[in-house]
Amino acid sequence: MERSLVLIKPDAIQRGLAGEIISRLEKKGLTIVAMKMLYMDKNLAQRHYAIHKGKAFFNDLVSFITSSPVIAIVFQGKNAVEMIRRMMGETDPARAQPGSIRGDLGIDIGHNLIHGSDSIENASKEIDLFFSKEEIFSYDRELDRWIY
Ligand code: RTP
Ligand code: MG
Repeated sequence: MERSLVLIKPDAIQRGLAGEIISRLEKKGLTIVAMKMLYMDKNLAQRHYAIHKGKAFFNDLVSFITSSPVIAIVFQGKNAVEMIRRMMGETDPARAQPGSIRGDLGIDIGHNLIHGSDSIENASKEIDLFFSKEEIFSYDRELDRWIY
């Protein structure tokens, strides 16, 4: 059973697409086990995107992600990390497959609607940045008896 951190980015909320994006992931069978809306401050943004420090787009990335609130969600499910990455599509919406979130709804590489953890290891680190243990819920779903 995997967990992944998803961020509904500021552009998705500004464009009224938060529900559509959450709904796509939910309908695919992933379980929401934690969710909150927050302003990411500069410190959190720099830690979350630490791997990109020093790259040409880093400052723009930090200023965009801190510009307006995000919704942070922990999704749980079988192969959740890879499944969400596939459903998101490639980083650049111009290259993302139709049918993917970025392919269908994305406009610009710097404003690509959604973040999803790119590995199980990073998912665990990212979840710890956004949520305490008490904020992550554990509950049974009948559906999970069919999938697992
Ligand atoms: P994310 O981390 O947000 O889920 O996106 P990702 O894995 O698909 O892409 P990543 O390589 O981790 O890059 C993080 C974010 O930085 C912006 N970016 N801009 N101008 C550029 O060449 C460029 N490359 C990346 C994107 O907004 C990307 O989501
Ligand atoms: Mg990334």
